Amino acid sequence: MTKPPIYILAIESSCDDTAAAVLENNKVLSNIVARQSIHEEYGGVVPELASRAHQQNIVPVIDVALKKANIDKSQLSGIAFTQGPGLMGSLLVGSSFAKSMALALNIPLVAVHHMHAHVLAHFIEEEGFDKPEFPFLAMTISGGHTQIIKVKSFFDMEVIGETTDDAVGEAFDKSAKILGLPYPGGPLIDKFAAEGNPKAFQFTKPKVDGLNFSFSGLKTQILYFIQKNVAQNPNFIQENKNDICASIQYTIIQILMDKLKLAVAETGINQIAIGGGVSANSGIRATLKEGEQKYGWKTFIPKFEYTTDNAAMIGIVGYHKYLENQFEDASVVSKARIEF
Ligand code: KG4
Ligand code: ZN
Repeated sequence: MTKPPIYILAIESSCDDTAAAVLENNKVLSNIVARQSIHEEYGGVVPELASRAHQQNIVPVIDVALKKANIDKSQLSGIAFTQGPGLMGSLLVGSSFAKSMALALNIPLVAVHHMHAHVLAHFIEEEGFDKPEFPFLAMTISGGHTQIIKVKSFFDMEVIGETTDDAVGEAFDKSAKILGLPYPGGPLIDKFAAEGNPKAFQFTKPKVDGLNFSFSGLKTQILYFIQKNVAQNPNFIQENKNDICASIQYTIIQILMDKLKLAVAETGINQIAIGGGVSANSGIRATLKEGEQKYGWKTFIPKFEYTTDNAAMIGIVGYHKYLENQFEDASVVSKARIEF
């Protein structure tokens, strides 16, 4: 007899995107994200505005996710939500909603670590996308994190390298801000870089021991470089935008690739998966893919919609935790910071 399907409603509200998804086992039936454009004019996420927008968005986003999946709430098996890390006010909107709904429907509640979700997004069933085998290396690159993780099983992960200051997404966003681009600037740097020469300008890579990263020096270097050149030519940025973006992106990719090569050498693991918003970057995706031929790696690059924050990735972790009966009661608390 085949087992009845498990339907998980997943809610993600850790930062500035309100997201809901419905999964049938490991397949995504719907994946809805309401992006908050309000932050653009402030050059970064304003926590107070983010929580207010989550409150406005959460009901319609969940409604659309259920409708699009063609699932009635009475059919749900469980509710998964992001417990952390993230902005406390944002997390509370998602967790309070998830708790109340699970209580009302009398179904299990599953708490999910946002960064586990970026790693495990690779286990969503998608045509044309292979799943990694344990153990594999995951590099999570987002606006808040830059980590290399040894993933031994669904619930056993070890951080073997991480940033000592800024996250790689911040390096993109802060560089973009220096160039006068709106927040988040990462996707814009990607876009302009596609038309530019990556070797036009040279930036030095930071020297950081082992598998750790540092990006704050690069940001300062870019700031001084721009200030110096704009002092000589006020139109420097406009005239060289594509080349500047390509050179910044190239330097960031080299920093990431150097550490990945070292991680493979140290662990002997050559399956590499990337996750997090910055894994949407076309230069990073292409360079990693080249690693298959160059270094004999097997690489896993998430489907575009599972790179930046989304609830489908929360749902896949929710599904695997559901299978293991890893449930929470209503006393579970949101955490701005959580241990890996
Ligand atoms: O994972 P995510 O959506 O949110 C966090 O958990 O931080 O990542 C957002 C980050 C931002 O810094 C954004 O600029 C960056 O991902 N990002 C990109 C690209 N798309 C998003 N960075 C470079 N190239 C992109 N195409
Ligand atoms: Zn994220």
